[in-house]
Amino acid sequence: MSILRDLEDRFRQALASVTDDPEPYVEMLRRSQDSKFGDYQANFAMALGKRLGRPPRDVAAEVVDKLDVADFCYRPDVAGPGFINLRLRDDWVAQRLAEAVGSERLGIAPVGAAEKFVIDYSAPNVAKPMHVGHIRSTVIGDSLCRTLRFLGHEVVSDNHIGDWGTQFGMILYGFRHFRSEEAYRQDPVQELARLYRLVRQLIDYHEGCRELPALEQRLAEREAQLAEKQGQSVAADDKKAQKEKAKNVRRLEAEVAEAREKLTDLQAKLETVEQDPRLAQLAREHADIGAAVLAETAGLHAGDEESLRLWREFLPFCLEEINRLYERLGVSFDHTLGESFYHDQLAQVVDDLIRQNIARESEGAICVFFPDSDVPMLIRKKDGAFLYATTDLATLQYRIKRWQPDAILYVVDFRQSMHFEQLFAAARRMGCENVQLVHVKFGTVLGEDGRPFKTRAGEVVGLESLLDEAVRRAYDVVSTNDDAKPTGPELPPEQRQRIAEVVGIGALKYADLSQNRESDYVFSYDKMLAMNGNTGTYMQYAYARVRNIFARGSVDIESLRRSGTPIRLDTPAERGLGLELLRFAEALDAVAADYRPSQLTSYLFELAGLYSTFYDACPVLKAESEELRQSRLLLCDLTARTIRQGLQLLGIEVVDKM
Ligand code: ARG
Repeated sequence: MSILRDLEDRFRQALASVTDDPEPYVEMLRRSQDSKFGDYQANFAMALGKRLGRPPRDVAAEVVDKLDVADFCYRPDVAGPGFINLRLRDDWVAQRLAEAVGSERLGIAPVGAAEKFVIDYSAPNVAKPMHVGHIRSTVIGDSLCRTLRFLGHEVVSDNHIGDWGTQFGMILYGFRHFRSEEAYRQDPVQELARLYRLVRQLIDYHEGCRELPALEQRLAEREAQLAEKQGQSVAADDKKAQKEKAKNVRRLEAEVAEAREKLTDLQAKLETVEQDPRLAQLAREHADIGAAVLAETAGLHAGDEESLRLWREFLPFCLEEINRLYERLGVSFDHTLGESFYHDQLAQVVDDLIRQNIARESEGAICVFFPDSDVPMLIRKKDGAFLYATTDLATLQYRIKRWQPDAILYVVDFRQSMHFEQLFAAARRMGCENVQLVHVKFGTVLGEDGRPFKTRAGEVVGLESLLDEAVRRAYDVVSTNDDAKPTGPELPPEQRQRIAEVVGIGALKYADLSQNRESDYVFSYDKMLAMNGNTGTYMQYAYARVRNIFARGSVDIESLRRSGTPIRLDTPAERGLGLELLRFAEALDAVAADYRPSQLTSYLFELAGLYSTFYDACPVLKAESEELRQSRLLLCDLTARTIRQGLQLLGIEVVDKM
């Protein structure tokens, strides 16, 4: 239970005597931005007064009169037009902190009504190398699992890997036509990845050749329009027409630039193939590779023996590859039930939907239509093939039957919004009513140029090399920091390396989790590894610095925790830090409320800031009395433990030295 929740409950009761719909007003309860106005503020009196046709101050006074918070707040204060300011009692804050000191869970009680969540995250299409786009789903999903579990909910994590799609058609085709026996024997994972990339490149080449004329035409058209507009004569004194013309010219210039860029990108791609004699020849020999790959996939799905045998042979290699990354990221799943797991349930799903009149035939295909949209959801193609949506329907049914969850969260790119809207709407019609279905969507990772993150050569960056680079740079940061220590460096190279792994990967995760998940964000090693600002590196450093005090003062923190020393909050800095420590529960509630780990990173960043204020204002090891020294050491200890616990819920480790 968080302080805010507690206060909300009390207000709900007090408001009940004034209005029969207290909820919107309860929701207006906030922590105060400025401690001048207490710790929490309720600003509903204006809105409620208006609705009741009464002066806001009267309404506020009446609510305060009914409000029963004396056990943890001083007497509430009504200010200005009717703001209710609440200040927590110092003895109460100190008491809660003392409890947190003695508690494994920092005094945070598990939720009263535990719910069961199934969380679908990461879910890469295996057989393709993982790339930067996969980091978001993986780290956001992992953090949500950890946080919901910590709060006391039951969580089933299920990695819905793509192990049955076209990418297998691609490696089957590649394996049959382009494999090197030798390379496959030595390093099957590498060889399969190479085959995937090669087939992808050839397919893209032929698609590109087909698109080229249209792009050229588009550019020519835009250029002609631009020339025409520029040549258009407008009277020099007609300011409005002049302005209009300039605006149109600018718009067309932008369109020309865009069309030219697309064309140049495509030409570069085509040239890469054409200028490499070996690739050029392969492209000529495999002119219909796109269709052939689809046929490979269809053969696999139809149960072709040899294809299935190869698929079974390849799959473990693909899994080995992704598991290596998961291990490095510290991520694990309760289940990995990929698309292939549902394959033989798909025909039944389609039949059921037809029988229940939820799906029907349209131009040979089977579709689910929605009253408020022109786009149907396709569940069986004309040629009999099933689709992504069909598999998701089967998966949904299976999950409900097996786990009976209260909610299923899908941590997936926002570009799949339409898919999930349709999936959820179809599910409702199929009678899935008692389960909450949520698309926890996220934006794109951009390069510093503001476009989706690619290497300079225009290739998608593999996740592994991304991690390596983050760790390499973290090593430099750790070394620079260590070299600059006043007493000289203290970390041998192997220790620096171990710290760099934790710091590098932590920085990468934190950079992602600290974003509002729905926004795109710019990937920057420099920013994520900065020692200042809201970064993982800063938080890890803050943790190590707090811990350092115990070493410097030769403090046996374990026994101090058991000593029952009271916490003193005599100065604003101590009280501010103490109160922020108690707000950890609030931050976790906020994460769970709409599945936003960024609520936790913001909290931790603020906590670290209040710790700095405290540390600057209050001597710890040299405090005036032994009692005060111990109280302050306990505040340091709680800060360190809260940061560590918070980072742990983000899936980030800490080090004791940096
Ligand atoms: N494999 C899919 C992709 O890479 C994501 C799957 C997400 N989960 C789901 N149940 N659809 O786009």
